[in-house]
Amino acid sequence: MAMATSAGQALLLMALATAALKSTASGTLQYDFYRSSCPKAEEAVRNATMKIIAGNPTMGAAFVRLFFHDCFVRGCDASILLDQSNSNPQPEKLAIPLRGYDAVNTIKAAVEAVCPGVVSCADVLAFAARDSAMVSGGFTFAMPGGRRDGLASDLNDIFGSIPGPSMQVQQLIGSFGAKGLSADDLVALSGAHSFGITHCSFVTPRLYPAADPTLNGTLAASLVKACPRGGPGSTVVNNNNAVTDPNVLSNQYYKNLATGEVLFTSDQTLTSSAATAKMVQDNAANPVAWMARFAGALVKMGGIEVLTGTQGEIRKVCGATNSGS
Ligand code: HEM
Ligand SMILES: *[C@@H]1O[C@H](CO)[C@@H](O)[C@H](O)[C@H]1NC(C)=O
Ligand SMILES: *[C@@H]1O[C@H](CO)[C@@H](O)[C@H](O)[C@H]1NC(C)=O
Repeated sequence: MAMATSAGQALLLMALATAALKSTASGTLQYDFYRSSCPKAEEAVRNATMKIIAGNPTMGAAFVRLFFHDCFVRGCDASILLDQSNSNPQPEKLAIPLRGYDAVNTIKAAVEAVCPGVVSCADVLAFAARDSAMVSGGFTFAMPGGRRDGLASDLNDIFGSIPGPSMQVQQLIGSFGAKGLSADDLVALSGAHSFGITHCSFVTPRLYPAADPTLNGTLAASLVKACPRGGPGSTVVNNNNAVTDPNVLSNQYYKNLATGEVLFTSDQTLTSSAATAKMVQDNAANPVAWMARFAGALVKMGGIEVLTGTQGEIRKVCGATNSGS
């Protein structure tokens, strides 16, 4: 599947996201939120995001993962973007290394140039994640806005909020359930593991001392080469080893689950309960239905514990609160 390079080439998914919105806390968010306050906001994010991914095709995955980590910890309030400071000595970002912070700042700067002080970093991240699906996945959909930026970020909030790669399906369902997301959402969103990169440190637990029998033998052999025992955990491997382009967001992930060609226990375990195995099969068989589910679930995720109205603030820069903390 070739990368879609413009909105014109991307499949436009409608209605489904609206349906998801009605059933979640994101009801307080609004489609086209910046219609009157900054009509070019979403266009400015899209332009900047497209430019970044054109320059480095791995960046779509970075934006989508940042959005996931933002939303699962303290809600989608851009707390993941705050740098260390006197009032935030141990921000979230110190807990788990993520990519794309500078790129998000670049997108925010592009939006500030159009409408200073109007568009939140939390919304910038939500729009950038949506636009990453457009560029890297070839489908697009409406993402509501109106999130406000939080004032705090605490590393300790990560624990118990972000699921781990060795979790089993029931634990994952519990983790997503705690955020108001269903098993269907879990399975649909896990498709994000069709693109991007992973560090060897997350893979070696399934290789040593003995290869996990649920891991495809061919893939295990290539991973042993890429991530030798005792080697640097910081080496990166592609999330999706079964297709030629690891930068494409697609339902290939669900086909890989059938052949054991996924990196984490938290991926493979989705085939171990009858209900989620059925969802995996459906997503493998029908790419457009998966896109619709992914879009709906990303909108739903984007509504987790959001700050709205006069809560929080609209940050000037994404790495610091306006009081400079
Ligand atoms: C179901 C529970 C999940 C677990 C246990 C999990 C775990 C992980 C881990 C361990 C990595 C590798 C990180 C690294 O080596 O730097 C990763 C990468 C990634 N995850 Fe997840 N994840 C989960 C759900 C999600 C969701 C819901 C999304 C987004 C919708 C997502 C998007 C990504 C992306 C795009 C990458 C690649 C990032 C990059 O290229 O830098 N993940 N995930
Ligand atoms: C976005 O890019 C298009 C095409 O290059 C350009 O015409 C438009 O002015 C840009 N919009 C913003 C808000 O930067
Ligand atoms: C493992 O992956 C290879 C390469 O894609 C594939 O040919 C093989 O059928 C897979 N093995 C199993 C048991 O699914």
